[in-house]
Amino acid sequence: MNLDEAKALERSYLLDLYGPIRMPMVMARGEGARLWDTEGNEYLDFVSGGRAVTGVGHCHPKVAEAIREQAKRLIHLSNDFYTEPQLRLAQRLSNLFGGRCFFCNSGAEAVEAAIKLARKHGYKSAGPEKHEIVTAERSFHGRTMGALAATGQPKYHEGFKPLPEGFVHVPFNDVAALRKAVSEKTCGVMFEPILGESGVYPATQDYLEAARELSNSCGAVLIYDEVQTGLGRTGEWFAYQHYEDVAPDVLTLAKGLGGGVPIGAMLAREPEAAAFTPGDHASTFGGGSLPAAAALAVLDVIEEEGLLENASRVGGQLGEGLRQLQETTGLISEIRARGLMIAVDLTRGVAAEVKAECAARGLLIAVVGDSMLRLLPPLVLTEKDADRGLAVLGEVMAELSRE
Ligand SMILES: Cc1ncc(COP(=O)(O)O)c(C=O)c1O
Repeated sequence: MNLDEAKALERSYLLDLYGPIRMPMVMARGEGARLWDTEGNEYLDFVSGGRAVTGVGHCHPKVAEAIREQAKRLIHLSNDFYTEPQLRLAQRLSNLFGGRCFFCNSGAEAVEAAIKLARKHGYKSAGPEKHEIVTAERSFHGRTMGALAATGQPKYHEGFKPLPEGFVHVPFNDVAALRKAVSEKTCGVMFEPILGESGVYPATQDYLEAARELSNSCGAVLIYDEVQTGLGRTGEWFAYQHYEDVAPDVLTLAKGLGGGVPIGAMLAREPEAAAFTPGDHASTFGGGSLPAAAALAVLDVIEEEGLLENASRVGGQLGEGLRQLQETTGLISEIRARGLMIAVDLTRGVAAEVKAECAARGLLIAVVGDSMLRLLPPLVLTEKDADRGLAVLGEVMAELSRE
């Protein structure tokens, strides 16, 4: 299929939702940090499948083999049955975080589950008045109605009101505002430890400490949405592990968990986990055998290949290379990086040009607005490929800085 055919089919048969963000090629194949389009062009993928999903790289042989083996045995059974991959995956995730798991199919669903758990916990401990959920301005938690209401970006709410009530948005990293917002009515406090979608802004230690302390004192559930930051992206299993003594009660995961196969999880520690009892929440597909087998293989790969360490090391190398480009090109005003989660603020509104020129030279990156680049390479990125990506970025920036 060529690009013209793809665009014609899109126009006729797909809802008009992604047109302006689509890259101008039809992708056919992936392996590790590389993709190939239908014309045979090769790309270095610095976005992990577009949205920080394929952390272990495209089509990792171990993940592909686990999927193949599981598909031959049992693809799916609902939660009316016990199945080993789901139970083993819950055990593995619990060994990493603690608590118990609910499985679903996406990040937004994991967030919905966390919202419902916080509401139920508040209801059981203090009645229906204890229903408010405090989240951050500039946060992103997903597109379903609860996750959308939690998302602190009015542009995503436009045209979809009324949204579920009871969400309070506070400025990120403003401890005084957080103290003012959290009250006896608060049943949940939910943050991304590093704001992802809006541009890699890490929480401060003070802020997460205040969130932990206020949640304890009000009996609210502290939720970290690690849909994007979790599973090694920042160089630790979970981003909150970069901080001291601020572990949450509830954690949401998705994106990198299935290596590209849709799966999400909400993990809850005790006593919060016990707020849910049979019938409170469910998912037809959640924790199905195939995605669970894929996720088990992903966890094995992260451990066996030392990908947390790799994310830190190669992330550091990219950060250093970008700082050099900052000096040589004058096109970069700020770099924010934690492992392989990197944002680059530009001094001019040329992000779209940088993205297009990089793609034309075989490097795929993402942008936020007019003047921010976002890099989310797979955790398997090698030093050589990091250098290659930096070289392309350097070339493109040098050209643009001459204009
Ligand atoms: C922090 C965070 N939470 C939730 C979501 C929603 O995940 P999904 O698109 O899988 O529903 C995202 C997606 O970008 C995210 O970054």
